[in-house]
Amino acid sequence: MNSILSSVLPAPEDPILSVYYACRDDPSPVKLNLTAGTYQSEEGKPHVLEVVRRAEQQLANDLSWNKEYLPLNGLADFNKLSAKLILGDDSLAVKENRVVTFQCLSGTGSLRVGAEFLAQHHQQRVIFVPNPTWGNHPNIFNMAGLSVEHYRYYDPETRGLDFKGLLEDLGAAPSGAIVVLQACAHNPTGVDPTFEQWEKIRKIVRSKSLLPFFDNAYQGFASGDIDSDAQAVRMFVADGDECLIALSYGKNMGLYGERVGSLTIVCKSEDVAKKVESQVLLVVRAMYLTPPIHGAAIVTTILKNSDMYKDWTIELKGMVDRILSMRQELYEALQARGTPGDWSHIIKQIGMFSFTGLNEKQVRLMAKEHHIYMTYDGRISIGGLSSKTVPRLADAIHAVVTRIA
Ligand SMILES: Cc1ncc(COP(=O)(O)O)c(C=O)c1O
Repeated sequence: MNSILSSVLPAPEDPILSVYYACRDDPSPVKLNLTAGTYQSEEGKPHVLEVVRRAEQQLANDLSWNKEYLPLNGLADFNKLSAKLILGDDSLAVKENRVVTFQCLSGTGSLRVGAEFLAQHHQQRVIFVPNPTWGNHPNIFNMAGLSVEHYRYYDPETRGLDFKGLLEDLGAAPSGAIVVLQACAHNPTGVDPTFEQWEKIRKIVRSKSLLPFFDNAYQGFASGDIDSDAQAVRMFVADGDECLIALSYGKNMGLYGERVGSLTIVCKSEDVAKKVESQVLLVVRAMYLTPPIHGAAIVTTILKNSDMYKDWTIELKGMVDRILSMRQELYEALQARGTPGDWSHIIKQIGMFSFTGLNEKQVRLMAKEHHIYMTYDGRISIGGLSSKTVPRLADAIHAVVTRIA
């Protein structure tokens, strides 16, 4: 029988997915998957926060809770609390009613809705993302019809921020262009600007009338503190100008598969905010009508209750501390083996990932001979390591670095 769809071409290979499939299909019992940005327990198992379990119990016991459709913009309390989480308790922008928040499908969905809105209503369709950046950024923005450009971000020589290059590229961007800024715990490099550098970035963004679109996928995961990790965003919001913020509860509450996040748009005035809100609602309506209820109910239960909120921040800090100790253990293991090169970036970088500096050939050898998987750019998820697996990883890094320069 003829296929009406036979002319469909296969999609080009996605480098991140191909590593994922290679790992999935590797029968080795000792394989180690460090590709995915998810936090695992010390036993190498998916980790559900205790406070999330409690919130779910509470919801299950509440017989007044139902499964009706949410409004197009999601749970009202969730939106209020999400805006507060990122903008702070005393946000002037919130008090002046010039902030609109939409419950969306995690960080990705929030970026996608924001991108669709901008593609339809912003006069400048160019969006600048850091080089390198999270692999899905270009897909999300291209799919919405925006034109993706890169600004310099990472310097492989110093394994740190290419601050001069960053300022030059943003300074040369066309006026009104959108600029994606990862709010903290930059993926994939683990390198964030200092607060002084953020201030200079803010000045150049504002002087060129660029529109900042913050990707806030890791709030709390950089420093272990929700407010410190929001500093960069709050610095921009405090100047009274506009920005978009995509917030994810995937990582900081471990709600990956619940797909819960928010898009917050800070506007110059209440009048602008009302117009923006009406247009974003049209975008949402045509995309998925209303967001899912369960994850947002969990988040709202936790954020609303001061005891649960406190317990969440303690658990979050616990995850961050375990990541920090994995960094330290890996660094020390490489030192102990006398592995050639300077590995101090492993303890300097922050967040879920480390950009190891391994090249693609070394990464392929790690998979082939040691059954250890990471993305081809040499990024490992520190959240996927444990004290048991660090020595194996260090042995493998030592072996490939010694064999291939
Ligand atoms: C920088 C960045 N932004 C956004 C996301 C989206 O995550 P999610 O859609 O699961 O919230 C990720 C996930 O890895 C990420 O690393």
